[in-house]
Amino acid sequence: MTHRTLAITGATSGIGRATAKRLADDFDEIILLVRNVEKGEKFKEELMMTHDDIDIDIIECDLSSLTSIRTSVRTIQAKYEKIDCLINNAGVVSLSRKTTDDDFEMMMGTNYIGHYLLTHHLFSLIMNSETKQIVIVSSNAYAFTTLGQNYFTGKGNAMNLYGRSKLATLYFMQELDEQFREGGLYVTAVHPGAVSTNLGKTPENEKFGRLVYGMLTPFFKTSEEGAESTILAVRDKEKYAGRYMHSGEDVSLKPHGQSYYARKQLIRNTMKELGLNSFMDS
Ligand SMILES: NC(=O)c1ccc[n+]([C@@H]2O[C@H](COP(=O)([O-])OP(=O)(O)OC[C@H]3O[C@@H](n4cnc5c(N)ncnc54)[C@H](OP(=O)(O)O)[C@@H]3O)[C@@H](O)[C@H]2O)c1
Repeated sequence: MTHRTLAITGATSGIGRATAKRLADDFDEIILLVRNVEKGEKFKEELMMTHDDIDIDIIECDLSSLTSIRTSVRTIQAKYEKIDCLINNAGVVSLSRKTTDDDFEMMMGTNYIGHYLLTHHLFSLIMNSETKQIVIVSSNAYAFTTLGQNYFTGKGNAMNLYGRSKLATLYFMQELDEQFREGGLYVTAVHPGAVSTNLGKTPENEKFGRLVYGMLTPFFKTSEEGAESTILAVRDKEKYAGRYMHSGEDVSLKPHGQSYYARKQLIRNTMKELGLNSFMDS
């Protein structure tokens, strides 16, 4: 079997961390794309205790900064010839209004735009592998909102803004599948379920986060359980290609989640915002 390389965002906490731990059995090399290198190093040490036979590379990548993404991509392109599987897992929930370095609304800018740009630049490495796989960690929070107006910079209710960013990731999955399935790409979006993690727990809303998670913990999955959908998608790429899946079952998308018009408009506008001339750098 050939040397297999996994790249994953957001593996310093929660679902991503549990995913990387399990998938360390399946890959020869893991690229951890992290915004906090110190946390990345600690996690690497932990992973090496059980998997001293794999290579782990930590690359700084703050998805809320286009400059940081472009720098990390240059580092990866200089070191790697292929990436077998990219998992776009990182995510942020911000209860107060925040913007990224490039003035995008924080959740749209990180969860969707940051991952879009990362995927765009890593695309030729992914297509250069035998596996040719992308897994996108989305969320059923998409169901409660449409994209609406000014979706890159707009204001609004935090949960609507989070839902919009996740709806955009679902459109992104469908566009990738439509354009590259014939070229051999396997792309899947997953919903991990309601999982007790650090999502939404920031210093300014720590109390609120602790209260909500405290009350709901008995109903929440553990991070290990939350990682299950991603792991299934990675391990059975043919079965789940082009699908939105949770725990091995298709999640049927609401009509607005399948809107051809909204999807095409989103992709066009994203390319324009990012100054890109093609859909993915292939
Ligand atoms: N938890 C749930 O119930 C649930 C439900 C549906 C979907 N999801 C999705 O599951 C994914 C994983 O979330 P989680 O629940 O495991 O949350 P989490 O414990 O907060 O982990 C989020 C990860 O994303 C990273 N991250 C956040 N902002 C980033 C940025 N600007 N640049 C790079 N990395 C960044 C975090 O890095 P740091 O360690 O540095 O903070 C962390 O590693 C997310 O996409 C989330 O939307 C979660």
